[in-house]
Amino acid sequence: MSPEPDLDLLIIGSGVAGLSAAVRAASADRGMRVGVLTKGELSDSATQWAQGGVAAVLHHSEAEGRHGGGPGDSLELHATDTMRAGAGLCDPAAVDILVSEGPKRVRELAELGAVFDRTHAGKLELGREGGHSTARVVHAGGAATGAEVERALVEAARSSAARIWESWFAADLVVEGGRCRGVRAVDPTGRTVELRARHTLLAAGGSGQLYSVTTNPAQCTGDGVAMALRAGVPVADVEFVQFHPTALHGPAGRAPRPLLSEALRGEGALLRDAAGQRFVDELQPRDVVAAAVAARIRASELEHVWLDVSGVEDFERRFPTLTGSVRAAGLDPVREWLPVAPAAHYMCGGVLTDLEGATALSGLWAAGEVACSGVHGANRLASNSLLDGMVFAARAVEAMLSDKDEPDPTGALGPLLERGGVSPGGTALVRLSMPTRPVRQPGDETVDAVKVRGALQRAMTDGAGVVRTARSLDGAKAELDLLVAQGWPAGEEGNLVELAYAVIAAATARTESRGGHHRADYPRHDPALAHRFVF
Ligand code: SIN
Repeated sequence: MSPEPDLDLLIIGSGVAGLSAAVRAASADRGMRVGVLTKGELSDSATQWAQGGVAAVLHHSEAEGRHGGGPGDSLELHATDTMRAGAGLCDPAAVDILVSEGPKRVRELAELGAVFDRTHAGKLELGREGGHSTARVVHAGGAATGAEVERALVEAARSSAARIWESWFAADLVVEGGRCRGVRAVDPTGRTVELRARHTLLAAGGSGQLYSVTTNPAQCTGDGVAMALRAGVPVADVEFVQFHPTALHGPAGRAPRPLLSEALRGEGALLRDAAGQRFVDELQPRDVVAAAVAARIRASELEHVWLDVSGVEDFERRFPTLTGSVRAAGLDPVREWLPVAPAAHYMCGGVLTDLEGATALSGLWAAGEVACSGVHGANRLASNSLLDGMVFAARAVEAMLSDKDEPDPTGALGPLLERGGVSPGGTALVRLSMPTRPVRQPGDETVDAVKVRGALQRAMTDGAGVVRTARSLDGAKAELDLLVAQGWPAGEEGNLVELAYAVIAAATARTESRGGHHRADYPRHDPALAHRFVF
């Protein structure tokens, strides 16, 4: 039985999407009774680690770029950049919503108390990042934007949510009568408890822990997507794992891997290969730069390339947290180039939703990295992730309040609900099935979680990493089969296994290269594959 049977909204996850929803839903004028469940403390989320900022087209009376960026920007230009990065798989209506509602959400966050960096004239200072035509990224503490956003939201959520469950683990969705009624959760003592609510919002974040080298913290284990897969709730686009091109290279096993933000390249940092030569336009979208970096590494004796930040004006004063990470690694950003390599950063796919965050299962909503509304397509544009979390979480709350109970045929979910599998102006869906999960054997829970995670990460990094082939994907699947033959793990590792199988299956089916998905054996786009693979 639930200790809180009368919750209006139960939120799984406490990053930007979860807490934006919590604060909005519990506000005085909306008055919902909200519970937030999180695996760690409220502030333990990938949002906390987000660097660059929030992309938004703000009025030139309120924001400006250091080097004259900003003026001349438009919602259309932000939408065009987002769609270009998304490599043909963005849902245009979702992108339109993201860019047009984003500025309002940024202003609300500032009103809530988030302190963003400002120019001498007191305007919000705009940075530029890869894939953006101009400076339009609002940031805090140089490149500590996520920490500031999280701080403001945690403070507001603590004073408004009816219940907060910290160190609780959401194990599975409770589905009864064709409707989501909440989750089965494990409390800090290991007891399983049902938490019920009228609406459940998955805001459980991403899955960078699928890989050995990731910018994501240890809790990013794809729990929300795995729960959806187990409950038969449609999931799509999971082959589009985004690798960030410039994580600080260092000893393996350090997670999260310190990121050297895109913002640096926007400010003039250059990528150099082992011979000291530049090899890519540093301001291309992230997938293009990551693929170029990976190719240079493969062709050299080094396990990294170099990021030369000597051209970034006033680096140490403007980027204090990055300076701290670099110095902690024993490097001097002023005097030496910094070793960087790609690291798993963001899951572009997730639980399919309509344009208001509704999933195919009544009562279940999804927002943020766990969701696939179609806004990111095959590759997310830099600094569109915090924005996505705030925009679509707000829409989900408003839709709940309007008594919406069924998904609409819109967004990435649209084609699944439309007859013929294609929505007007949208992309088609092609169905894949999950590999059959072996029946759980008694004692499976006792498998060594650390060993399983390490082996899974190695298999995924080698076989389903930045560049894949049919052969490497088969190899990764064989490794997983061996792993689960010793017992299907429980909890986070079980979720990672589930999602790893899905990533491998979708990446195998996508016999082309598109966005964040690079196949060495199919190096080109295939127009016939301009659709999503859905489980
Ligand atoms: C970065 O600062 O480079 C990361 C921002 C993002 O993931 O969009």
